[in-house]
Amino acid sequence: MSIRGVIVQGSSRSKGNTYQISSFVQDNSGFDIVDLKSKQIGQFDYEFKNQNDDFIPLIREIVANYDIIIFVTPVYWYAMSGIMKVFFDRITDCLQLEKKIGRDLRGKATAMISCGSDQELKKGFNMPFVESANYLGMNYLGDVHCWIEDTEIPEKVKQDLIDFITTII
Ligand SMILES: Cc1cc2nc3c(=O)[nH]c(=O)nc-3n(C[C@H](O)[C@H](O)[C@H](O)COP(=O)(O)O)c2cc1C
Repeated sequence: MSIRGVIVQGSSRSKGNTYQISSFVQDNSGFDIVDLKSKQIGQFDYEFKNQNDDFIPLIREIVANYDIIIFVTPVYWYAMSGIMKVFFDRITDCLQLEKKIGRDLRGKATAMISCGSDQELKKGFNMPFVESANYLGMNYLGDVHCWIEDTEIPEKVKQDLIDFITTII
């Protein structure tokens, strides 16, 4: 049976540079793409007042259908995008309210792909992904950094992505 994977894209534009990377990963893995920008997902709320937005149905669908979750985020101000961070903040709903979903995240695999304009990614960028996976009992498979040059994915980045995909699936 083949591994079921999902690419969770957290860019502030649906068809920008991060999408180019998500698309390349999709073409080389067969994984589905979820575009967080197309969803209505509110900021974490201590009173869970946004339980009727798109977050709970989305995370429920992810835990039901996939074994590997690859987070693909642009680098915005040296960190993950705001859209991606809100998604992580909302995982708190699954620890406090929708506890079955939280339990079902355990044992799943996760990985992260960053897309910046710089070739260099500052040390520590991956820490929230690594530590969140640890906290949630998920298996962190690793990460790879990407960038776009003149609207194209450079050959080195393509090779790094193919090597990465080969090691995780
Ligand atoms: C708000 C904002 C902040 C950014 N900060 C960084 C940064 O800290 N480091 C970096 O390498 N690139 C930075 N960039 C460039 C983007 O990471 C880069 O252009 C990326 O490919 C954009 O992907 P997107 O088209 O999916 O938004 C920033 C871009 C924006 C819009």
